Amino acid sequence: MNLKIAVLGGDGVGPEVLAQSLKCLRAVEETFHHHFTFTEGDIGAVAMEKYGKPLPEVTTELCRASDSILFGTIGTLKYDANPSAKVRPEQGLLQLRRELELFANIRPVKVFPTLVNKSPLKKHVIFGTDFIIYRELTGGIYFGEKKLSKDGTIASDLCEYSEKEISRIAHFAFKSAKNRRKKLTLIDKANVLETSRLWRKVVTKIGESYPEVALEFLFVDNAAMQMMLHPNQFDVILTENMFGDILSDQGSAICGTKGLLPSASIGNDFAMFEPFHGSYPQAEGKNIANPIASILSTAMMLSHFGLHEESSAVVTAVDKSMRKQIVTQDLNPDSKYGTNEVGDFIAANIIDSDENYNY
Ligand code: IPM
Ligand code: MN
Repeated sequence: MNLKIAVLGGDGVGPEVLAQSLKCLRAVEETFHHHFTFTEGDIGAVAMEKYGKPLPEVTTELCRASDSILFGTIGTLKYDANPSAKVRPEQGLLQLRRELELFANIRPVKVFPTLVNKSPLKKHVIFGTDFIIYRELTGGIYFGEKKLSKDGTIASDLCEYSEKEISRIAHFAFKSAKNRRKKLTLIDKANVLETSRLWRKVVTKIGESYPEVALEFLFVDNAAMQMMLHPNQFDVILTENMFGDILSDQGSAICGTKGLLPSASIGNDFAMFEPFHGSYPQAEGKNIANPIASILSTAMMLSHFGLHEESSAVVTAVDKSMRKQIVTQDLNPDSKYGTNEVGDFIAANIIDSDENYNY
């Protein structure tokens, strides 16, 4: 298969972890005889310095001309320390999601058996945890009208959803549940919010076309608690933009480190793959960031293009790195391996085999 891939490293450790993903994709190319071309583009603080804005048109055009987008991370200490800066690196990512209509953010939370002891939760609590969050990504409070009164004492962010925005991601989530353990949990705040009541109505109606999927509802506060008490009760979670942002970070903590989890942002025309984690600017250039979340994002990408064997080869190599303790210090404080060495090991272990791990 030929794939044109846009590579947007972004800020902080983004470019470093993404470089490991490219090594792995080169290994996949070689092993399975594909052809990938990588073209780099700027986004985030790095783009603000070069172009005066976080998402220059050339980057959007590059993405539109590509089959797939690999994204690193966004944000720097300078901007984190100044939340009222009018132009912010994060806007680049938000704008890209919106322009390419990447409305479904898919975040799997799965505990690697080799890492059960890394979780802050007890082993018996996390046993069997394997759920996937479908977070709506281009609507809701993130994108509603923002206002600040003239005197700066009153602010508002509008949370708005249309039936269309809800139904397109709901179909994705139901289809996923149908192929998994057939349970879908809609997480909302329907006891308070009008938007949540619309979500329930639309999702309930769509559920009628997926009779094999059991549909459940949970209020977001209860869901946050349930995720800590019994994370293995979830199969597919469907939720709106901001609840999904919060719950996905919470979910990632179950795995003991944010450095492991990948995500995909999918629309009808484009697809982007990125780690869950942020830009970790404190680690920039130190060769200590865990590249696994980024590498597993490429596994999600390969599956998205129907390259399941290839995807499984990547996940198997990742699992091997953990079994052999070729890991960064977030997973083993005594480790002598850095971002690069872990990337090299995983790339070198991507082989055509019949072992079968999936992501
Ligand atoms: C994420 C991030 C982004 C978000 C930020 C960087 C804008 O936290 O992808 O979860 O809130 O969506
Ligand atoms: Mn987030």
